[in-house]
Amino acid sequence: MSSKTAVARPETLPVEKDPDILAAASRLAGEDLCSIADLSSSEVRAILKLGHDVKHNPRTYRHALDAKQMVLMFEKASLRTRLAFETGINTMGGNAIFVDQTNSPLGERESIADVARNVERWVDVIVLRTYAHDTITEMAANARVPVINALSDFEHPCQALADFMTIEERFGSAEGVNFTFVGDGNNVCHSLMLTGAQLGANVTVATPRGYSPDIEIVTIAREICERNHGELRLMQDPHAAVKEADAVYTDVCVSMGFEHESTKRQPIFRPFQVNEALMAEARPGAVFMHCLPARRNEEVTDAVLDGPQSIAFDQAENRMHAQKALLLLLLGGLANVASFQ
Ligand code: CP
Ligand code: NVA
Repeated sequence: MSSKTAVARPETLPVEKDPDILAAASRLAGEDLCSIADLSSSEVRAILKLGHDVKHNPRTYRHALDAKQMVLMFEKASLRTRLAFETGINTMGGNAIFVDQTNSPLGERESIADVARNVERWVDVIVLRTYAHDTITEMAANARVPVINALSDFEHPCQALADFMTIEERFGSAEGVNFTFVGDGNNVCHSLMLTGAQLGANVTVATPRGYSPDIEIVTIAREICERNHGELRLMQDPHAAVKEADAVYTDVCVSMGFEHESTKRQPIFRPFQVNEALMAEARPGAVFMHCLPARRNEEVTDAVLDGPQSIAFDQAENRMHAQKALLLLLLGGLANVASFQ
């Protein structure tokens, strides 16, 4: 595996002339984002390039989504995703409405199709956090406005976009970066595999036996990797997985909805804890990443999460910038930005 050691921030890009961004603005307007696999490699690159520009030049986009209405319907708790979407649209002139579905799962009171047929009459975009991934795809199939996956039991695409934006900040590009995920081969892992593959990273995933990523995602990620000259390796040994890693990523071992498995999972995941000893086996200068929230001293120790290699809070910040870029493209917001006309 090749690897990256340079630490450089990407230069400011001439976004108005960037062919990836212009093509994505045309193709993605009105589309859904249920999975990273809904996007091409150049569309992933476009979102990240625009995300960097939004981060560095927020005033350029402050009226891009004037009067646009976004609804967030969440069946699970959230800090980062909710606030990143709300602050994101508020700082571009739009408005967010939050609907707490934690005690009223989507599809229970009325069908998901009927919810879609109502909600689309009032809002410009629907952001969903659900248990079942099918809830998101069903809403997307029935709503005439874009639907965004804000985490399901299968994927967390908004997280992965922000994470690879953070990797680009750190390494200049994700291409050739040795990216290692250690832990549960679940929703976050799935979206990271697909995004890493889209960007030409070398992705290694180490999970306990029985917790490996879904075979459908593995198959798609392998196909994408082949096109982009990256690698995808699956293993059960966290020590072998972090060798030569530029970035070591973990997630909780008990995701929302799996709390009843907590006692069973703790000992299984214990050897996969990211601690200082494991980080010492990665490349010097490797970064530590976590989607958060962390269960401190379970999947990651305080020393690593709070240590100099951790970029977890940069990832959290970038949730907002990456999601702003996504909203701009799905809602056609660049048409309202003077420099794009
Ligand atoms: N990483 C993430 O999605 O955080 P929240 O659950 O707080 O939204
Ligand atoms: N895998 C975790 C991610 C939380 C952001 C979960 O689904 O709970």
